[in-house]
Amino acid sequence: MYKTGELIERLSNEHSLSLEEYAFLIKERTPEAATELASLADKKRREVYGTDVYIRGLIEISNYCVNDCLYCGIRRSNKACDRYRLTPEEILLCCKEGYKLGFRTFVMQGGEDPYYTDDLLCELISEVKSQYPDCAVTLSLGERSRESYEMLFKAGADRYLLRHETYDKEHYEKLHPSSMSWDNRMKCLRELRQIGYQVGCGFMVESPFQSEKELAEDLKFIEEFKPDMCGIGPFISHKDTPFKDEPSGGCDLTCYLLSIIRLIYPNILLPSTTALGTIDPMGREKGLKAGANVVMPNLSPVGVRKKYELYDNKICTGEEASECIECLRGRINRAGYKMVTDRGDIKR
Ligand code: 5AD
Ligand code: FES
Repeated sequence: MYKTGELIERLSNEHSLSLEEYAFLIKERTPEAATELASLADKKRREVYGTDVYIRGLIEISNYCVNDCLYCGIRRSNKACDRYRLTPEEILLCCKEGYKLGFRTFVMQGGEDPYYTDDLLCELISEVKSQYPDCAVTLSLGERSRESYEMLFKAGADRYLLRHETYDKEHYEKLHPSSMSWDNRMKCLRELRQIGYQVGCGFMVESPFQSEKELAEDLKFIEEFKPDMCGIGPFISHKDTPFKDEPSGGCDLTCYLLSIIRLIYPNILLPSTTALGTIDPMGREKGLKAGANVVMPNLSPVGVRKKYELYDNKICTGEEASECIECLRGRINRAGYKMVTDRGDIKR
């Protein structure tokens, strides 16, 4: 039998455990182990990033989606979803507002929406990069062809977020319709990296059918793939999806995993997510204290925010960007960190 304390010490020194050890650490989670992991993770993040917290302006460009992920509120089959698309002009206005507020990274996120052709996106990305050469552009637009990823990169996109959702193929197939493929998801991640993007992957915590076995696989994947970023947040049920009656994930396990990921890869960029802030009013602060170093406030026009509802009760859908950023600045300060105006690239 393993001893939790010894595993934590080894993880902290060697940045690696076996699949069985990761699973044990998750299964045998205690408040004491969580405190120990968070304190080691926070120490590591301070060694690499000090108390800096990077901000990313999230622009939710469209809630149209060709996919039908069983957990997601903007899935194609959800007839109750009120669909919208932002025009390039509207997106540029978000960037303008964001730049004034101190954002130096813009994340364009949306469902898989064929309206956003390569030509449209390339023009938009070039425009953002020419207006704001000191900013990074991050895309989070799902699975596209290698050629598309290449064109968008050439147009100036710096980073791409594509959560793998779960590293366990069988589990992936329980969360997605048969039209979606785990193999293609993984292929996209590999291609993005080959092309030269800074790549972010990630997964939901306590999604349906997930146990410590699947989470251990996610951790092993992070250890081996070494993504520049990793977005994790609790699964939160959405009332108009097949998973409406499934229990949502918890803040404590999410923070526990954030700490483990920080120890696996001390330099990684780790957001304290909106989902974490939704499941617990102090979730984002707890995430930062557990080792996260990034927050992603919403820059979308207030009129569309409520419509980009991936899960129920999402926070910050009524606030202006300026209100969110001031609210977050206070939260970050009170947690003992400092919001900075910086592109926030990974430190190597
Ligand atoms: N609960 C939590 N996270 C969700 N996502 C989608 N639906 C949900 C949900 N119901 C996450 C997915 C996706 C990211 C944009 O949001 O991981 O990749
Ligand atoms: Fe949006 Fe607090 S971060 S209101």
